[in-house]
Amino acid sequence: MVAERYLPPWFSVAPMMDWTDHHRTLARLISKHAWLYTEMLAAETIVYQKDNLDRFLAFSPEQHPIVLQIGGNNLENIAKATELANPYGYDEINFNCGCPSPKVAGHGCFGVSLMLDPKFVGEAMSVIAANTNVPVSVKCRIGVDNRDSYNELCKYEKYHGCTGGEEEERKANYTDMVNKYYDLSTSFYEFGWGESFHFAHRWKGESLKESIKRHEHFLALQLGLKPGQKVLDVGCGIGGPLREIARFSSTSVTGLNNNEYQITRGKELNRVVGVDKTCDFVKADFMKMPFPDNSFDAVYAIEATCHAPDAYGCYKEIYRVLKPGQCFAAYEWCMTDSFDPQNKEHQRIKAEIEIGDGLPDIRFSRQCLDALKQAGFEVIWEKDLATESPVTWYMPLDTNHFSLSTFRLTAVGRFCTRNLVKFLEYVGLAPKGSQRVQDFLEKAAEGLVEGGRKEIFTPMYFFLVRKPLSDGQ
Ligand SMILES: C[S@@+](CC[C@H](N)C(=O)[O-])C[C@H]1O[C@@H](n2cnc3c(N)ncnc32)[C@H](O)[C@@H]1O
Repeated sequence: MVAERYLPPWFSVAPMMDWTDHHRTLARLISKHAWLYTEMLAAETIVYQKDNLDRFLAFSPEQHPIVLQIGGNNLENIAKATELANPYGYDEINFNCGCPSPKVAGHGCFGVSLMLDPKFVGEAMSVIAANTNVPVSVKCRIGVDNRDSYNELCKYEKYHGCTGGEEEERKANYTDMVNKYYDLSTSFYEFGWGESFHFAHRWKGESLKESIKRHEHFLALQLGLKPGQKVLDVGCGIGGPLREIARFSSTSVTGLNNNEYQITRGKELNRVVGVDKTCDFVKADFMKMPFPDNSFDAVYAIEATCHAPDAYGCYKEIYRVLKPGQCFAAYEWCMTDSFDPQNKEHQRIKAEIEIGDGLPDIRFSRQCLDALKQAGFEVIWEKDLATESPVTWYMPLDTNHFSLSTFRLTAVGRFCTRNLVKFLEYVGLAPKGSQRVQDFLEKAAEGLVEGGRKEIFTPMYFFLVRKPLSDGQ
């Protein structure tokens, strides 16, 4: 079933042990339109009881619309169970990844424990969809015990200076820190900013969206991308820039990212726009890339390598995977020469940006330049593009500014989002801690605006560098 064609029902009666099967007729009398879910049936029960299926699967016609909920952790049985259920005419098949009962999630290793195995859930959904013509869906919870986002949030906060953390610890545990940050914040980014998680040089009269695209096209032009080339996007987020650059330049872009959730989301969005045949994602750390030497015709990074615990180590890896004679271009987050490390206010702003954006430490642009040269690159040109942006890059975050097109980022928009998140958390629809995540993202926004206004910070220190044709050339 194609997702765009399927509108989920407004009102459903969720599956509940000992209630939804026994009281379905009553529920139907109360509402003609509610979608009724069966209690979970293990795929094995359907498969092993195939001569006795009416007992488990039959229902009276007035119960439509009705959804069959299947549970299990064996793909073959899940496929077979779906096929056996088809003749009964359910309106949807739902796969259970939400049952917390110890019998199911503990012993049986399915139900909510499947939330820890998204790859299997993807495969299970594919086999269900391949064996039925009705819509398919997944039931999940908003967290798994001891692995919920609230625990992750508390651990994340402990990494940072303003909450007692140390820079060395952030650097030593950068993978854990950055992943926790993006697990917590990706949905907020996508909601507030869009699919590309970066700032942009902006002309007067240009919308934020247009400027973001042009910022990406600029990178493609600087790299001189040609149709058919193999390009690497280092720290690709959910792939907004990857899709734009791949379509703009007719190249095959590989997105490298260490965050599982972002990759899953990126793959889905690639499928929607149809670049999934030419572009892919690889889950790995950009400090240890799983690619052979000299693999790519071009490499770019947008506001991502600032997460590296050590710039030289990261640039050296990029140098290794780039073909000789080819180019690497990036937009780096940097402190400018106006930043005074002894100034208390400057220190506070830097710390706010670090906690709010999952960074171990923000480097000076001159340190990045030195690291590039040390890694072996020859520098073609470099410049802080923020210094020549007619509209400041931080304007969309500035609460003094109001815009309808970026309403969610304005003071009023953020006030509405804050209260909506508060409400959703209160009624249990958003995970515990959502409000605190929103708070530290707002703090980050304030730090970014102040850093931009004082010109001590830039998110667009641009450089174009080249790997020499042979070492020493
Ligand atoms: C600010 S986002 C930018 C994303 C993307 N370039 C864009 O502009 O939409 C930074 C990205 O770097 C990724 N990242 C951070 N540390 C990484 C690492 N060590 N290895 C791979 N990716 C990493 C994060 O997961 C995130 O996707």
